Amino acid sequence: MSGPSNLRIAPDLLRFSLSSLIVFSFLLTGCKEKEYSEISAAPGEIELQEANADQAQKDLVKRGEYLITSIGCADCHSPKKMGERGPEEDPELKLSGYRQGNELPPIDQNAVEKGWILFTGDLTASVGPWGVSFAANLTSDETGIGNWTYEQFETAIRQGKYKGMKNNRDLLPPMPWPSYGLLSDDDLKAMFAYLKSTKPIKNAVPAPIPPDKIARMKKQ
Ligand code: HEC
Repeated sequence: MSGPSNLRIAPDLLRFSLSSLIVFSFLLTGCKEKEYSEISAAPGEIELQEANADQAQKDLVKRGEYLITSIGCADCHSPKKMGERGPEEDPELKLSGYRQGNELPPIDQNAVEKGWILFTGDLTASVGPWGVSFAANLTSDETGIGNWTYEQFETAIRQGKYKGMKNNRDLLPPMPWPSYGLLSDDDLKAMFAYLKSTKPIKNAVPAPIPPDKIARMKKQ
């Protein structure tokens, strides 16, 4: 009695296990195909990621250029030629600071004592109660910010420290770092990325001249 019923179950079981085997192997193949497609897509994916990172860097530099240009860093940091409309930026020397070796025009200390602040015609050097200050080279050359880290740039802009070193002297006027220090991290990062991407221009800007030395210059 048990024989025939067992016999009847057996084919059912067989059919069941056969069909699950088919389903299982189908799943396996499906998985394999998926794995395979993931592997073959990987190189393309990497290229895509690289292209995206490339584009992100380009966008960052572009935003930095927009900020540096619109905020007017070149007003003081770019040498200029006197044009019909006043001092015009020399594109060849963009952001390279007061020209090394240039001679300052004679300083009228009386005017400074009377409360005037003097600028050279290209606005890269100025005289005031702080002495004479010279706008820095901001290009990617090593005489500029070429060897700087972002942290140095941030310290220079947020804390007004020479070369972005915390123990260095304070930056002199008219560098308006107290205002620029209010810019967001994202903005400063973009500005630094742009400055790092600029054409390197070799120009070692002279050290500032302290007020008492100007007085001595006058007596000579
Ligand atoms: C009104 C003039 C003026 C403007 C505008 C100006 N700067 Fe300056 N900047 C100077 C002067 C002058 C110095 C040098 C100060 C010193 O030697 O203490 C200087 C110094 C710096 C330094 C420090 C360089 C170093 O070697 O330590 C950085 C960085 C800098 N400026 C960035 C900028 C950026 C970025 C902008 C625009 C967002 C800008 N400056 C706009 C006048 C200016």
